[in-house]
Formats: sequence, C-alpha cells, structure tokens
Amino acid sequence: MIQLKAAPWSAVRDSDLPLGIFAYEDAGVAGASVVKPAARRALWEHAKAEGFKGGPGDAVSLHGSDGARQRRWVLVGLGKRKDASPETIRRAAASMGQFARKRFKRLAALLPGDAQAAAEGLILSSYRFEEYKKPDPDAQLAEVQVVVEAPAQRARVESAVNRAALYAEAVAFARDLVNRGPSDKRPESLGKAAKDMSGGTVTVQVIGREEAEKLGMGSYLSVARGSSVPPCFVHLTYRPKGAKRKIGLVGKGITFDSGGLSLKPPQSMEEMKMDMAGAALVLAVFKVLERLKIKAEVQGFCAFTYNMPGPDATKPGDVVRAMNGKTIEILNTDAEGRLVLADALVYASRQNLDALLDFATLTGAALVALGSNVTAAMTNDKALLGRYGAAAKRAGEDVWELPLVKEYKDRIKSAVADLRNISKVRVEAGTIIGGLFLQEFVDGRPWVHFDIAGPAWANGDGPYCPEGGTGALVRATLEYLGGL
Ligand code: BES
Ligand code: MN
Ligand code: ZN
Repeated sequence: MIQLKAAPWSAVRDSDLPLGIFAYEDAGVAGASVVKPAARRALWEHAKAEGFKGGPGDAVSLHGSDGARQRRWVLVGLGKRKDASPETIRRAAASMGQFARKRFKRLAALLPGDAQAAAEGLILSSYRFEEYKKPDPDAQLAEVQVVVEAPAQRARVESAVNRAALYAEAVAFARDLVNRGPSDKRPESLGKAAKDMSGGTVTVQVIGREEAEKLGMGSYLSVARGSSVPPCFVHLTYRPKGAKRKIGLVGKGITFDSGGLSLKPPQSMEEMKMDMAGAALVLAVFKVLERLKIKAEVQGFCAFTYNMPGPDATKPGDVVRAMNGKTIEILNTDAEGRLVLADALVYASRQNLDALLDFATLTGAALVALGSNVTAAMTNDKALLGRYGAAAKRAGEDVWELPLVKEYKDRIKSAVADLRNISKVRVEAGTIIGGLFLQEFVDGRPWVHFDIAGPAWANGDGPYCPEGGTGALVRATLEYLGGL
C-alpha cells in the first residue's frame, strides 16, 4: 500500500511533485492556506473549464500556478460543503489515490480537515489482494507526502498520519485473511499466525481440540466434527502497564461455512470463506494494539473451525452441552456461528473483563434488514453500545441497534434441551434470534453482539475497498479502544 509521510510546505513547494488539492462543488478549493487565494481561485476556474464540478469523487489533473511557480495539480471533489464529514473526506482522498495511482509515482497532497480520515482514504485506496496473482502493473503510486502547512501543525499531522497508517495496516490484514481461499486458512495455521504476534505486551494461548474437550466446549466442538481438519481456539492478551479497563473481543472464525449437513446451496457457499471475518477483525486489532499505545487491557478470543458435512458431522436433532452447562438441540447445522460463539463467550466471560464485544458474520437476515453497509448491534448495556457507536461514527462505519425482544426468547426453547439453535418461528427476526441465543452465554456481563454479515464483504469495488473482504469494524474497534 501507499506510504505516507508528513512533509513541510517549504520542501513540497520547491519540488516538482504533482500536488493534490480538494474542492467543494459550492465553495471552491478547500483549505490549502499556503496557496494564495488568487491562485486557488484560478485553479478552481481552470478546473471548471475542464468540466470538473467538485462533486464527490470527481477528479481532474491540470497545469497551473501555486502563486509562485507552475506545477501539476490533481483536483478532487468533496461534494457540497454542508455534507462534509470525516467520511466524505476519507472517500474524496481515496478518489485522489485511485486517480493518481495509475498516473504518478509520487504525489504531495494538501489534505482538507480531518487529516487522519484523509490519510486512511489515501492509503486504503491502494489496497489490493494479490496473494494469488501478479501485482497490477499499472499501479505506480508508492508515496504521498502530506503537506504540513505550518510548523505548529507538524506534530498533529504526523500523529494523524501514523495512526491512519496503523489503522490501514490492520484493515489490510483483516481483508487479506478474509480474501484468502478457505483451504489456505486452516484453523491451526491461523492459530500459528496468532502465536506469531506474541512478544512484548502480547501473550497468546492456542487451544487445540483435546484441550477444548477438557474445557467442556461441546457446542464449539460439535461444529468441528464434520471436518477432518481440527479446530483451533485462540486466546490473546494485550496487557499494557497501568491498564484500568479490560475489554474482551470475541470473533466468529468459521474458515468455511458449507452449512454442514444442513448444506447450503452452491451460490450461498461462494462467499463463505468470509465467515471468519469476526475473528480476522480480532487478529487485525492485535496486530497494531501495542504500536497504537492503547491504554486498556484487551483480550481476544477466536473460535476457528470449518463447518463441513463430513462422515461424523453433527446431525439435526443432536444435543450438545456448552461450557456453561447449557444444553443445545441442534436443528440446523448451518446456524453454527452461535454454537462456536456460545463457548467462546462463556470462556471470555470467565476472564473478569469489563465488557465483551463479539463480532460475527452470523445471519443472512442481517443483510436483509440493514443491507451491506450497516452492522446490526444488540446489547444488554446501551451505554456501552453508545460509546462504541460514537467511535464507529468517527471511523465512518455504520452501526444500528436491533432490540433483544424478550418475548421472542420462547422461540429458542427446546422440548429436549435448554435451547434450540434456530427459532421455532421461521423467517421472522433471524438476526435478533441470533442475539438472544448468544445472550444466554455472557453470564449477564456488559456485552454487545455485532452481526457483520453485511459489511464484512463488498460485492463490488468502492473508493477505499475493492470487491471482497472489507475489514469491517476494524477501524471502529481501534477508535473505540483508543478512547479508553
Ligand atoms: N455464515 C452464515 C451467515 C451469512 C449469510 C453470512 C450470508 C454472510 C452472508 C451463517 O452461519 C448462517 O448460515 N446463518 C443462517 C442461520 C439460519 C440457519 C438460522 C442463515 O442466515 O441462513
Ligand atoms: Mn452457517
Ligand atoms: Zn456461518
């Protein structure tokens, strides 16, 4: 991905780097106080004459003066001034990155407003998943110099750029894991990838099948039964000195969801390598926690396994026992996410944490309810979700609460066990039912369940994310943790 570095205006001014600059469609060139007003106006008029309107994502390249010398400019539209937000800036900066990546090797940019959001957009615009193919030969842009307009701003710009680079690194890490083919991300190899993160303030414990059996994780293990490849549970701990808060992050790590014996139709399986996006988020966060100097203690829990219909697979009607003793009648082996999370949540709830956040591509119903841009959240602690939601907003990620409707609890009562893994009332409220099921395993602790089935995957290219894994809620979670 593109490398960013902060550079003083004096150095950029005297270079022949193309200079990126932003403009509102109703207010002309934005910010860029180092460029004289007359030069800014001239650029705007010149760009308009070239057909540039300043709408979101519009971009044009032209020659013009900065007041002292002629240079090449890249103008990018921000849309209307009243609609401006960190997210419009992030997207506009990504458009600049997209526009420049095939044209220039290096670029300087005068970023408008929120420098961190802009820097994130620039860096992530260059993310590509290239594990299985040659790098794009047309991609040239390697470095962007972010202009520090006044010496007093240097520290602020540098820290914004650094933070953006770490956020982008984490997002790219999550995307890479999600995009990788399902046979190339076996639970044990992801366990090893997690183990490789240990050192410094991070310790990692990898729990294999036998130990999970000893712990009584019967619900989780029932999902792994249909695969010849063993499961792997990962417990990561980041413990900085003087931490006051302790947060647990729990991730669904289904490395491929075939549905098990309740087999999915082929089309629904096409994207099911993404069913470990929740666990990918957890690992991605751990990748950068220390470098971001997060003050809180963070523990991560990833329940990795394939969900396959092999010869010894769990059969509809089977009853299993989770780590907290609750029994579950499994009627649909495709509702496996809640089965692995049940044990992961019980395990996490025993670590004496202040809050538990779980991330899971849990239900197709979440996609029906909120589409592919919005995460469904359910909680037993509205204030906790409120704080996370505010952080998500800053990160440009949408989270919307769904209610944990008490009256629906009857629908997951079983005649032969404590719970059934699907609702008695079909079709209705599938996402809420998933949340109600998980709530049975958090022991009343402050908890939020994030159903990321929609946002974890992009069906087409966006300004700062190509088709495929998105790294959904990685930035939101880092932003939340950074505020503790
Ligand atoms: N991994 C799927 C959910 C999913 C669907 C994620 C589409 C992303 C896109 C999950 O394991 C699943 O199969 N859920 C079932 C639950 C049902 C059987 C109660 C579903 O959504 O159909
Ligand atoms: Mn499933
Ligand atoms: Zn699944």
